[in-house]
Amino acid sequence: MVETAAMTLSALQKLMRERFEAAGLSTPRDDARLLLLETLGLSLTDLVTRPDQQVDAAGLESVRERMERRLRGEPVHRILGHREFYGLQLGLSAGTLEPRPDTEVLVEALAPNLRRIAEEKGACRILDLGTGTGALALALLSIEARASAVATDVSGNALETAGANAAALGLGNRFAAFYGSWFASVEGLFDIIVSNPPYIRTSVIAELSVEVRDHDPHLALDGGVDGLDAYRAIAAGAVDHLAPGGIVGLEIGFDQRDEVTALFEDAGLTRLRAVQDLGGNDRALIFARPAV
Ligand SMILES: C[S@@+](CC[C@H](N)C(=O)[O-])C[C@H]1O[C@@H](n2cnc3c(N)ncnc32)[C@H](O)[C@@H]1O
Repeated sequence: MVETAAMTLSALQKLMRERFEAAGLSTPRDDARLLLLETLGLSLTDLVTRPDQQVDAAGLESVRERMERRLRGEPVHRILGHREFYGLQLGLSAGTLEPRPDTEVLVEALAPNLRRIAEEKGACRILDLGTGTGALALALLSIEARASAVATDVSGNALETAGANAAALGLGNRFAAFYGSWFASVEGLFDIIVSNPPYIRTSVIAELSVEVRDHDPHLALDGGVDGLDAYRAIAAGAVDHLAPGGIVGLEIGFDQRDEVTALFEDAGLTRLRAVQDLGGNDRALIFARPAV
């Protein structure tokens, strides 16, 4: 970075964008704008209306430090320490996956069931397996005030982060997080079981982008030799933890629709929907336990 005592906002943004372009980052313009504005506590309106505003030395130093981290491959939201998911601001930590926009299609797909069950029963019990930041459970709770959620994970760090996120969003009184593998620490029946489990084949992990491979926890990614380990465990326990007529919503990899469908149909569930993400890839499956 050109170390000058004074730089304008627009000049600094241009410099960052050029460095990111030269490094081959895929979204250099967005990364530069987001890092610049968030680091300096400014809005897009500030940038548009006051491009010639001078950035002071302390601001320049903070931006420089974050720009270098981005150039070393750290994702923008890891650097910022938070990411928006379904309109909720979620804190991130070393033990949490960065929630992805594609996962929002699972929330959207479950929303009608969530509202219907809450209407019929006056409540809806949700179980979020592998909760990470709490993204799925908290998004569903934000949709339906009569719902409550239990969440599990085997990352203590993720559970702490999920609890803090729930509290910060004012959802802590309807959210409880427990340490345990899938259903191990869970009792009772649920109306909706939701999960975005690790589903990447172990052999593929080394080929992932540096942003994912080196910054998302492998516990959140690695689905075993065929990528299906977590689905097998969840399918094995689903029916015993579902209320009659209960729903299971799963995120899946783009090529896992048929295999995951077979696992859950063999376990006694019926597939209601297969849902595509914004890129047209299979991304979520919705199953139901028959009511009788
Ligand atoms: C792909 S991440 C999803 C996180 C979050 N639900 C989301 O959608 O952003 C998978 C999560 O499953 C957790 N996990 C891995 N193995 C687990 C297990 N045996 N039992 C419970 N959670 C597990 C990981 O720690 C991670 O938080």
